[in-house]
Amino acid sequence: MKIYFYFLVVYLLFTGIAVSADIPSHRHDKHLTREMKQQHHNMSVINKQWNIVKKALQKGDLKSAGSAMEKIHSASANIEKFKVHRNADKHEEFLQEYRSFIENIKTLKDSIRKKDDKAINNSMDAVQENCNHCHVLFR
Ligand code: HEC
Repeated sequence: MKIYFYFLVVYLLFTGIAVSADIPSHRHDKHLTREMKQQHHNMSVINKQWNIVKKALQKGDLKSAGSAMEKIHSASANIEKFKVHRNADKHEEFLQEYRSFIENIKTLKDSIRKKDDKAINNSMDAVQENCNHCHVLFR
């Protein structure tokens, strides 16, 4: 009986060594996970702040809308470094989507600062289109 136990321990030991010896792919997975978590986190911040902007503007609270837009703007710089998996070969298009998004964010920030209702409405639509369009292609 003891000898079987001994063999079992040796067997488990070797399986354990074999699994942990597979370090390169292990590391790769970890790296991907961290990167995707980062992107996920980034987008969650943008999403949360975008909802705040929409609610604030409905109430005419330009001050809260403006500060949430500030947070979106700084969180958006990271999108440029995203490693997208869907349509990964269309990186130049992804960058165009990114640049267009940044432009419309700036315009929206300016319109809020100028309290220009018409410009605010137009750039709200433009930014929302950026979200949707980029997601259709790359999310
Ligand atoms: C330039 C492209 C681009 C733009 C613009 C963009 N997104 Fe995203 N979004 C992505 C990509 C790519 C993902 C998938 C990221 C991942 O999970 O790695 C994503 C994921 C998301 C997610 C899911 C988060 C998660 O991982 O669970 C939400 C929510 C989201 N975006 C909201 C928004 C909102 C709101 C806007 C506009 C204010 C926006 N996005 C603009 C590219 C974009």
